[in-house]
Amino acid sequence: MNKPIVFALLAAAMTACGPQVPQLGRASVDEVVEAMTLEEKAHLVVGTGMAGFSGENAVVGETRKLVPGAAGTTYPIERLGIPSVVLADGPAGLRINPTRESDSQTYYCTHFPIGTLLASTWDQQLVEKVGEAIGNEVLEYGTDVLLAPALNIHRNPLCGRNFEYYSEDPVVSGKIAAAYVRGVQNNGVGTSVKHFALNNQETNRMANDAHVSQRALREIYLKGFEIVVRESDPWTVMSSYNYLNGIYTSENPELQTAMLRDEWGFRGMVMTDWFGGKDAVAQMVAGNDMLQPGTDKQYEMIVSGVKEGRLDEAVLDRNVKRILEMILRTPRFQGYRFSNKPDLEAHAAVTRQSATEGMVLLKNENEALPLSAGTKRIALLGCTSYDFIAGGTGSGNVNRAYTVSLLDGLKQAGYELDGELKTAYEQHIAAENERNRPDTTNRFAMFLPRPRPTEMMIPAARLQALAKANDVALITLGRTSGEFLDRKKADFELTREEKALLNDVCRAFHAAGKKVVVVLNIGGVIETASWKNRPDAILCAWQAGQEGGNSVADVLSGKASPSGKLTMTFPVHFADAASSANFPIDMAANMDISNSGEKKNSLKNVDYTDYEEDIYVGYRYFDTFGKEVSYPFGYGLSYTTFEYAAPRVETTEDAYLVSVQITNTGKRAGKEAVQLYVAAPDRATANKPEKELKAFAKTRELQPGETETLVLKLPKANLASFDTASSAWVVTPGSYDLLLGASSRDIRAKAAVDAAGSSVPVGDLLKPQGNLRLLERSGR
Ligand code: BGC
Repeated sequence: MNKPIVFALLAAAMTACGPQVPQLGRASVDEVVEAMTLEEKAHLVVGTGMAGFSGENAVVGETRKLVPGAAGTTYPIERLGIPSVVLADGPAGLRINPTRESDSQTYYCTHFPIGTLLASTWDQQLVEKVGEAIGNEVLEYGTDVLLAPALNIHRNPLCGRNFEYYSEDPVVSGKIAAAYVRGVQNNGVGTSVKHFALNNQETNRMANDAHVSQRALREIYLKGFEIVVRESDPWTVMSSYNYLNGIYTSENPELQTAMLRDEWGFRGMVMTDWFGGKDAVAQMVAGNDMLQPGTDKQYEMIVSGVKEGRLDEAVLDRNVKRILEMILRTPRFQGYRFSNKPDLEAHAAVTRQSATEGMVLLKNENEALPLSAGTKRIALLGCTSYDFIAGGTGSGNVNRAYTVSLLDGLKQAGYELDGELKTAYEQHIAAENERNRPDTTNRFAMFLPRPRPTEMMIPAARLQALAKANDVALITLGRTSGEFLDRKKADFELTREEKALLNDVCRAFHAAGKKVVVVLNIGGVIETASWKNRPDAILCAWQAGQEGGNSVADVLSGKASPSGKLTMTFPVHFADAASSANFPIDMAANMDISNSGEKKNSLKNVDYTDYEEDIYVGYRYFDTFGKEVSYPFGYGLSYTTFEYAAPRVETTEDAYLVSVQITNTGKRAGKEAVQLYVAAPDRATANKPEKELKAFAKTRELQPGETETLVLKLPKANLASFDTASSAWVVTPGSYDLLLGASSRDIRAKAAVDAAGSSVPVGDLLKPQGNLRLLERSGR
């Protein structure tokens, strides 16, 4: 019999014949809390632990209970009718074990595109649709809360988890996350918006102290969370591992209560990241309601905390109540009969199509793409073409049934590929993988990115023959990354072998009058400036999920038109990013997740990181300080072209409605993502960025000659900057330029509005403890 039913029957039997014990769902939550013992409350707030793991040897969330491979479960209390509910990762799809002991059925989930690709669609409706498909798998596999979306800011290109995150810009991050949450939660399951906040580096993530100004917190690092909380009502929030201005985020009442709840109106429950924080009592007080996956030590700290008067039981009750309210909403509590059979075929179609919309066409000289109708034979080069990367590693991975390689995608699209080349690559990759065998003595090994095979060198004569026999060359460059590790600087650069491959292939194919297309199968930014002039076209395909090869083939063949745009800047050099001065570059990782030591303050960028670039993250820095970039924020080509008409601005009581007509002026159908930036008056003296994104929208697919009017809403309050001295959101009166751009460096239409001044005071929260030497623009 189905577990929830047994549970309900048991509960009913107990109420019928036993003493009158309040039952969750029948009695009020207050009555249930009233009936709980201290021990039951302490159990409920700490979860059930991870079978076989303790804080000393855990890797990423994994439980064997209820749904094997899910990250965690809540503690059941049968006598009160409180079931255990299931929490599972993650951003690119549900992460559970694909097989179970003594069970011939499989439990594969769909690997959807990584977060960065989803954001690169700039399409909130599409992301909501993807969220709906992900949420359906959450529901049908019997899980209750998805541990996603992840929306930390891409502060630096090397953060190992950028692939799970959305953007260097908080508006993109917040709006895309809100769409994702709406989609998932439409299924009646929950989400956990993570990692709140400032988990911008993996190096020493459990003990790194992020030193950040209040302004950068408000304008950059917390803004996305504020948007998602205000706009999509997530069931839960997950606090991050790190310290923020001296205090663990999970132990900080200013963050978890004063800001999140009192100021932004969050109504749900907060849980820790797995084994995050140290002081269970402080976490309870802060309003971090649940500690996952839960340890005996935490349970004991809470029980003794109450008994010894260090933890007010009313605080515990408050947290317990929030957990119970969350449980009440879950499918498991409501006895939903999940099928264990989501429609994986339908979801494969969703991931295949959505992925094409987030791929970014970086270069397309002489219309090299889409491949011409006469193109039949493709010389497929680069190891990654044969070993396509669906997504990143760690908790953001998805146990999928298959990954379509570029080779298979192209074959299925009807192209002919060289069999000998395929064999040579397969043998080379097998040998490389043997050489790079994971270190089985490292218990993290299976969660870490595997080194990519070194590129195979192809002799000039062979390349000449390939150029003769094929219509075009396609080279894929790949990168993987994941939880626990930041990328190394070398991972940002191309390797010597990759550069040689690019050069040799371009030389041979161009000499034969054939084109070369480069596909980037990456999860984070790489160096492009030094080589981008060589190939004819470059498609940044990101990591596009399990249908990746098919999605790329759809774009290359012209079946789909790429309409993605970058949600982060591609700098010329790694060191150009302002945050690179304060980022753990090539530092040894500390994967000790038991985090037992004392807080340290000696090793810069490891023990602590000074966010000295302040608000100048990504394009806010590059555009304000006039730095050359390789590809700017918001950039992406299409197979067609668009014209922007002069905008019209309608002023309502609380917003500006900016309408702009977008016309497809090219020869093919396509979609355009339009960005609305604002340039404030007196920017230099007021130390404000040159421009800031405030809204964005995307057209539907426009046929050649077709026009659509987009209306972008800019609430007047969003003109404000954070003024630290008065702890207020302040709109300086004056004329604000509204810039409609195809990228941050390609402004196509302008308008201006005269804004009245205003000041909205907010709590003076999360102050840095020491002095930070913050970057300011000159002219002050
Ligand atoms: C990650 C979270 C994840 C959790 C549960 C942690 O290691 O940081 O993002 O949700 O594990 O698997």
